Amino acid sequence: MPSRRRLIVANWKMNTRHQSAIELAGTIAEWAGKQGQLPYDMVLCPPAQLLFTVASAVKGSPVKMGAQDCHWASHGPFTGDISAPQLADAGCQYVILGHSERRHGHGEKSELVARKLEAAQKAGLVPILCVGETAEQKEQGRAEDAVREYLTQSLPANYDPRHLVVSYEPVWAIGTGRQPAIEEIAHTNQMIRSILGQHGAETRILFGGSVAPSNAGAILASTEIDGVLIGSAGLSPEGYIGIATKANL
Ligand code: 13P
Repeated sequence: MPSRRRLIVANWKMNTRHQSAIELAGTIAEWAGKQGQLPYDMVLCPPAQLLFTVASAVKGSPVKMGAQDCHWASHGPFTGDISAPQLADAGCQYVILGHSERRHGHGEKSELVARKLEAAQKAGLVPILCVGETAEQKEQGRAEDAVREYLTQSLPANYDPRHLVVSYEPVWAIGTGRQPAIEEIAHTNQMIRSILGQHGAETRILFGGSVAPSNAGAILASTEIDGVLIGSAGLSPEGYIGIATKANL
């Protein structure tokens, strides 16, 4: 049975500015630096223009950094885009891909996510691949099929499951205060792992959607849930640290 270190990821989305990013990342990094050996990994994913700010705020601490998206090409005429090697150059070790706010807000298809995932791994980044059913798909009883489809179509032919994180994020649970029952999350994560096959034993499978200090303990107590992807609760040091400490199992 491989041991999978828990992973606590904050997705800051389109929030924070230079000063607030320094304060938020700095407070979390300072706290992490005082904890000695932590049994879990901590990752902050700020908006792209604050990557260098956050990189310097967490420098020398156990806190790692990720980005929220990348392009599939390494460089070129792609106005407004950022490539995976550029993110690595800025100090990122992770990159969130296929978040529902990109799939549904920007029409990103799984085929495109697969190309990005391949580019991210090639650049040495660990992709955090998001998959999750919409409220409509859930109501129609198609939740499992939707997750299976997003997952299988977002994985390129040659991906490295050891340098991959998957996050189950039901769209209806994001920013709503609603969540599936723990058993339902565990069941979906099991299905994701079985799709990844024998090589997926080392892939960390998270949960995201309205994760807060009040519900993180129950979520992280499940052996099927290797960590959390946090949105709004990750925008305060108390919220993020309050969740991370629940991974101290
Ligand atoms: P909330 O935690 O705000 O629901 O957001 C979840 C999310 O989308 C993380 O990527």
